[in-house]
Amino acid sequence: MKLEVADVREFWNANPCQSHLSQAPERRRYFEEISKKRYGGREWHVPKVANFSALRGQEVLEIGCSIATDGLEFAKAGAKYTGVDLTPRSIEMAEERFALFDVSGTFVATNAEAPLPFPDASFDHVYSFGVIHHSPAPEKIVREIHRVLRKGGTFTVMLYNRTSINYYIEIMFLRKIFRMCLLPKPMPAIIAAITGFDRQTLEGHRDMMLQKRGMTKQEWISMNTDGPFCPLADVYNHREATALFKDFANVRQEVWEFNSDHWSFLGKLIPLKLERWIGRRWGWHRMIYGKKP
Ligand SMILES: C[S@@+](CC[C@H](N)C(=O)[O-])C[C@H]1O[C@@H](n2cnc3c(N)ncnc32)[C@H](O)[C@@H]1O
Repeated sequence: MKLEVADVREFWNANPCQSHLSQAPERRRYFEEISKKRYGGREWHVPKVANFSALRGQEVLEIGCSIATDGLEFAKAGAKYTGVDLTPRSIEMAEERFALFDVSGTFVATNAEAPLPFPDASFDHVYSFGVIHHSPAPEKIVREIHRVLRKGGTFTVMLYNRTSINYYIEIMFLRKIFRMCLLPKPMPAIIAAITGFDRQTLEGHRDMMLQKRGMTKQEWISMNTDGPFCPLADVYNHREATALFKDFANVRQEVWEFNSDHWSFLGKLIPLKLERWIGRRWGWHRMIYGKKP
């Protein structure tokens, strides 16, 4: 069955990205805790790759801004920031966040596959972190990036990396071998107690496996990236990402992020330096940079 963008919208509207990272009742503190956890944890590399301060004074468009965690950093660093997202709920939270921190920005709830509501050549930089691989029509979003960028304008995009430990070893090998262990009813609780993995996520995986016998490869990848109910996610190697951004110049790629939490107690034995070294070789985040010729 072909996936529609409405399925993607429904999932992310119900689960604004990383909105669960804080439970603080006070709203300013709530957003501060989310930023702290993002940049202080496994996504410590985001400020490096996004290079917020380099965009001071420039017109920046973020595609898939969600609750504007990175958006706030662009705006605080002096960029003229616009964020778009498929989901009204994320846009509401992004607007609330900007108001609370007294920074200005423009937000639009829209599908970036459809023509974006901006004229040609209206931005200096387009940023999109972990978004395009959730789209049923990624090439349409990339075409829009090209259209709205000014000549010489730059982009920074993160796509999930196929040539990663997460894809080949975890998703396509270990999780496939061990998935049957989840089927007996008490197993999610037992595995959660032994490994420290989130019990609800494991229960979700069990439910999905009971519902969907004979899953496609695409469905398997999707349910093993952003939780069991994520309707769509894809992965890209160097060649696939190069092909997607073929109309741009100076395209450069690098990889980041190895999530040692996936490896339970074994992960805790890995020194931080080694974790980061692994991430730079076989990490999950494929960063792509380039410019409009
Ligand atoms: C994994 S989250 C990433 C959010 C944010 N960039 C971050 O790093 O926290 C993916 C986001 O992309 C948005 N998204 C997915 N498809 C989209 C589309 N076609 N147009 C606009 N936004 C989209 C989702 O609504 C969701 O907020």
